[in-house]
Amino acid sequence: ASYDMGGHDTYMHKEIFEQADAVDRVLRGRIDDRFSTVHLGGLNLDAREARSVRRVKILGCGTSYHAGLIGAQMIEELARIPADAEPASEFRYRNPVVDPDTLYIAVSQSGETYDVLAAVQELKRKGARVFGVVNVVGSAIARESDAGVYVHAGPEVCVVSTKCFTNTTVAFALLALHLGRIRDLSVADGKRIIEGLRKLPAQITEILDQEAEIKKIAEEYADARSMMFIGRVRGYPVAREASLKLKEVSYIHAEAYPASELKHGPLALIEPALPTVAIVPDDDLLEKNRAALEEIKARSGRILAVAHQEQEKADRTIVVPKNEDELDPILMGIPLQLLAYHTALALGRDIDKPRNLAKSVTVE
Ligand code: AGP
Repeated sequence: ASYDMGGHDTYMHKEIFEQADAVDRVLRGRIDDRFSTVHLGGLNLDAREARSVRRVKILGCGTSYHAGLIGAQMIEELARIPADAEPASEFRYRNPVVDPDTLYIAVSQSGETYDVLAAVQELKRKGARVFGVVNVVGSAIARESDAGVYVHAGPEVCVVSTKCFTNTTVAFALLALHLGRIRDLSVADGKRIIEGLRKLPAQITEILDQEAEIKKIAEEYADARSMMFIGRVRGYPVAREASLKLKEVSYIHAEAYPASELKHGPLALIEPALPTVAIVPDDDLLEKNRAALEEIKARSGRILAVAHQEQEKADRTIVVPKNEDELDPILMGIPLQLLAYHTALALGRDIDKPRNLAKSVTVE
C-alpha cells in the first residue's frame, strides 16, 4: 500500500502524529451526554444481555494483546465485571473451558491474524458469544464476530503498531463505560469519564509537542544493550507495550516487569548499564512507585520516568498531562512510541519494516 506521507519520513512517524485525529474519530458520534454513556452501534447487546455477562475474556496477539490488557482493567474498574486478557495463540492450544456467561472479545488491527481468527472460530464452534474490537472494516475477524466495535484508527502501514494501539485502548474505554453505565457506574462517574475522553486529543498533541526533548533522551539511551520497563497495575501493560515497541523497532533487548516484582528477582540485573523506564502515574500507587525508583537508584540504575510530575529519583522525566486515573494508560505509552522511534532512527534501523516481522501474521 502507498499513502501520502504528508511530509513524514516514515509511516511510523506519520502514524504517531495522526493519533489526536484518530482518537477524535473513535469518539465521534458515540458520546451520549444525556445519559452519560456511549452508543456503540455494532454492539447488538441489550441491557438485559449486558447484565448477564459474568466475565470478560479478551484475546489478541502482540500489541493488540497489550491493548486488551488495558481494556480488561478498564472493564473491571468501570463495569465491575471480572476481566482478563490472554494471548489468542496460547488460549487456543490449552483447551480452555468455554463458558456461556463469558463475553469473549477478539482484538486485532488487521482483523486477519490467524491465531486470533482460529481462536474466534474455536469459540464460536463451542457456542460462545464473541465480540470483535477490530480496525480493518469487513476483515475476517470482524466478519466472524457476532458483534463489535470498530477502532477507526485509519490505515496503519508501519509494521510497528502505534495509532491503532491507542485507538484500541480508547475503544475499550468506550466499551467499559457502556457496560458500566448499564450496571453500577454512576451518572457522575460516567460524566467524569466522558470529560476525560474529550480531553484526550488535545493531551496527545501536548505529548507529541515534546518530540525534540524525547529525541534527545532517545539518543542518550541508544547505547544501552538492554532496558527494563516497569509499571504497576495500570502502568504495567503500558510498560509491556513500550518494551515491545522498543524491541521491534530498535532491536534493543527489553523486558517489562511489574514494579512490585522487582525485588523477587529482576533487581539483580540493575546496574548503570541497564536503564529502567518507569511508568509513574499520579494515582493511589504513586508512593509505591516512588519507592521502586529509590531501590533502583540505590543500585546506581539510570531511570527515565514517564509521569505526571517531575520525579526526583529519576535521571530524566517525561511529564505527560493527567487525565482520569482510569484513562491515564491511554496517554502514558505515547511518549515511549517516540522514544522507540528515535532510538531506532539513531541506530539506523529500517523503521517501517523491522527485520523478521510482517504487518499481519496470517499463518500459524
Ligand atoms: C505490533 O507492533 C506488532 N507488529 C504485532 O505485535 C501485532 O500487534 C500483532 O501481530 C497483532 O496484529 P493484529 O492487531 O493485526 O492482529
